[in-house]
Amino acid sequence: MAEDLTINNGTKQEQYESVAQQISALMQGEHDLIANLANAAAALKTQFGWLWVGFYLVKNNELVLGPFQGPVACTRIAKGRGVCGKAWELAQTLLVEDVNQFPGHIACSSLSQSEIVIPLIKNGEVWGVLDVDSEQLSFFDEIDQKYLEDIVAAISY
Ligand code: SME
Repeated sequence: MAEDLTINNGTKQEQYESVAQQISALMQGEHDLIANLANAAAALKTQFGWLWVGFYLVKNNELVLGPFQGPVACTRIAKGRGVCGKAWELAQTLLVEDVNQFPGHIACSSLSQSEIVIPLIKNGEVWGVLDVDSEQLSFFDEIDQKYLEDIVAAISY
């Protein structure tokens, strides 16, 4: 079956509505977590062209690199470390306008300037995070937060 993503060129909201609907359709009837995370990362990267977008999954009390799109990245992150480890520890979304000002930021790529990390939560437990990086300062806002939180809420395992 052909799986083509239709790129939307409208407002940011329209782009998110479009890609969220397509991610949902791609996950329909597919219960393999890695397959769904891989397609979600690919769809988001294709629509938005961010520097890096991907998932880290909690394994043996650390975050381990999962499906992603972009430059190679660090493979393991301890709880509380960097933006990802902090979002995990706090179980809340972190929107970082300038990663160079974030204490303990882990620079996987020196090109990354701003970042948003959304925890994936099931039954009150964080089981992973979605991490998005941009080459521009202050790139992400509440619109990104709202739609990315909705997209990860639709991902289950
Ligand atoms: N910058 C992240 C690490 C992951 S990479 O950006 C892909 C952090 O500080 O947690």
